[in-house]
Amino acid sequence: MAISEAHPLLLLFLSIFLLPTLRATSFHYCDKKLDPVKVKGVEISPYPVVSGKAATFKILGSTVENISGGKVVIKVSLFGIPVHTETHDLCDETACPISPGSLVLSHSQTLPSFAPPGTYTLKMTINDKNGGRLTCISFKFKITLSSTVFVS
Ligand SMILES: *[C@@H]1O[C@H](CO)[C@@H](O)[C@H](O)[C@H]1NC(C)=O
Repeated sequence: MAISEAHPLLLLFLSIFLLPTLRATSFHYCDKKLDPVKVKGVEISPYPVVSGKAATFKILGSTVENISGGKVVIKVSLFGIPVHTETHDLCDETACPISPGSLVLSHSQTLPSFAPPGTYTLKMTINDKNGGRLTCISFKFKITLSSTVFVS
């Protein structure tokens, strides 16, 4: 049976069992500027994020423009202090070209194992090929130490 034919309730049960630590988190736009990409939700998995292990940040949104490419700029800060910045090709995180309608961006990130536990802020700016801003959001997430690490 193809997954698309599965009963929605079955999918719900599956997602509860397979992704017990998925978290939909609240986010803020960086400012009041009206950008062509609207964000509907942010999902973080696993939650909390474990230092040294890959985490996936999924951005669910929609665009009113055709997007052929661009950049995703990620800035992570702790207590307002920038600790990590990186830039990715937009087309590595979603399928390009993007037509008007819904879009899902999936960003994988491994935070260094020395990242101290705490509440971090991630700011994500998406720019188009010409550097024009498509959207800018920020959200908070928690990092815990790997469960194999014990401090006595
Ligand atoms: C997006 O591209 C398609 C195909 O080129 C075009 O028909 C459509 O008008 C474009 N839409 C916008 C909003 O630019």
